[in-house]
Amino acid sequence: MIEVKDVSFSYKNNIEVISHINFKIEDGESVGIIGANGAGKSTILKLLVGLELGCQGQIKVDDCNVDKSNLSEIRKKIGYVFQDSDSQLFMPTIYEDVAFAPKNYGFPKEEVNTRTIEALKSVGIEQLKDRPIYHLSGGEKKLASIATVLSMKPNILIFDEPTVGLDPKNRRKLIEVLQTLGGTKIVTSHDLDFIYDTCQRTILIAQGKMIKDGLSKEILENRALLENNGLELPLSLISRT
Ligand SMILES: Nc1ncnc2c1ncn2[C@@H]1O[C@H](COP(=O)(O)OP(=O)(O)OP(=O)(O)O)[C@@H](O)[C@H]1O
Ligand SMILES: [Mg+2]
Repeated sequence: MIEVKDVSFSYKNNIEVISHINFKIEDGESVGIIGANGAGKSTILKLLVGLELGCQGQIKVDDCNVDKSNLSEIRKKIGYVFQDSDSQLFMPTIYEDVAFAPKNYGFPKEEVNTRTIEALKSVGIEQLKDRPIYHLSGGEKKLASIATVLSMKPNILIFDEPTVGLDPKNRRKLIEVLQTLGGTKIVTSHDLDFIYDTCQRTILIAQGKMIKDGLSKEILENRALLENNGLELPLSLISRT
């Protein structure tokens, strides 16, 4: 379970970008976090994995407080896909990047290979495994980033803007991957159709504050609520009306 209790946060410039946020996420839930540019979505995700520290309030993952002393524990529980793929990939080839975490974790060689190939297959990029990272397209980098996280099979998966750069077929494939994966999933996206298809629950934030937390179906179908917070109805709903 993830528990965020009265959390506020400022970066070094002391401007508060997260303000008194509260939510709980139970095991197995899939939750979308939506909001306009700069609302604080990526910041919340970074606080959950301890990539930013020093918030006020409390963040707990299972029974671990997210703080400096628990970071390796937290990182084992959570797989985190960065908004910017270049921050995620650092090995010479895709295969090495996807194999890196299981190898580092000490799994036997065979198991590292099985996990790596499975993860690459699940996002459909097995054929790219020996390609150098710097030769990849934006969408290919995104798929590779997702595979680096899947190879660890973490209990909690966090995706920051996972559909950016994906073509419609790969986006559809990612929806299927998310729908079939077990565990807890937290997704931020401006692609509200993607949230609609993958997350049962949605948290809407604006300027670092919680606006609404509820069923995706209710929040994402509420045109006035979305428009008041700088968003628009999912495209699939616009074309229905
Ligand atoms: N390293 C940083 N130092 C100072 N301010 C930052 C830093 N990173 C983000 N911010 C500010 O914090 C606020 C929230 O940023 P954040 O990246 O969390 O927004 P977001 O909701 O993810 O936006 P987007 O939809 O554009 O990805 C913004 O006002 C941003 O300018
Ligand atoms: Mg962001």
